Parts: sequence; structure tokens; C-alpha cells
Amino acid sequence: MILVLNGPNLRRLGTREPDVYGAETFDDLAALCRDTGRKLGEHVEVRQTDDEAELIGWIHEAADGRIPVVLNPAAFTHYSYALRDAIKQRTAPLVEVHISNPAAREEFRHNSVVAGVATGTIAGFGLQSYVLALHALAEMNTTS
Ligand code: DQA
Repeated sequence: MILVLNGPNLRRLGTREPDVYGAETFDDLAALCRDTGRKLGEHVEVRQTDDEAELIGWIHEAADGRIPVVLNPAAFTHYSYALRDAIKQRTAPLVEVHISNPAAREEFRHNSVVAGVATGTIAGFGLQSYVLALHALAEMNTTS
């Protein structure tokens, strides 16, 4: 089981700034993640919330269940110390993902307060960032 968790505004994929985030919808993203999981022999559950508290609750759930996570924290990436503190408690690998490449965008996106407590970060590959992250987690599971 792998949890794919998405922060604020990501439900609006497809209509939100398609020049930055692409034309595919959140449902397309969820289907892509589940299909990738199927190919890797992993059950993948995809969630999205605009609510910081709910996202933190899911990170706690993953920590308690030793569940690996793919996380796109969206704008929380850049300022949520509460999310960082939650991720610090993780008991399984967590990959930070971004659809765009925040380092190539506005200054305020250059810093991630989450990166230092994640296993690693994949950014800038569109929805493929999630596919790459799922492969990385599946690889870690089989090799550990
Ligand atoms: C994002 C990048 C963030 O800077 C932004 O706030 C998002 C999406 C990405 O996937 O590229 O909402 O995390």
C-alpha cells in the first residue's frame, strides 16, 4: 500500500494554469497513479485536500501504519512548518513531488520546508513526477 497525498488546489488540475500544470485532470492523475501501482504490484490510494489539518492527519496515519507516501504538498511546501513537523515523524519513505519545477519559478517557490525531512524530491516532470516517485518507493520496498 502506498498513499499518494495532494495538497491545496490540486483538485483543479486541468483548469488551473494549464500552461504550468498541463491539461490533464485530477481524475487522470489518480488513474495514472493507480495504474502505475497495479503494474508495480502495489495498492495505491490517492487523496487530495485543501485543508492543512486534514493533510497532517493523513501524514500521522501513514506514520502510525508505516505506509510509504508520495506527497505533493502544493503551496504548503513553501511555508508549513506544521506539515514539516508531521513528516519528521514518518516511519516509512516519503517522496516529495511537484508537477512543475519550483526552482525555475517565482522566488517564493524556491524554498521547500519539507525537502529536508523527505526521503527525496522529484520535480518538474509533469504528472510523470508521480510515476517516478512510485517507482522509487516500489524499488525501496523490494530492496530493503
Ligand atoms: C506544485 C508547486 C507549488 O509551488 C504550487 O504551490 C502548487 C503545485 C507543483 O506540483 O508543481 O500548488 O506543488
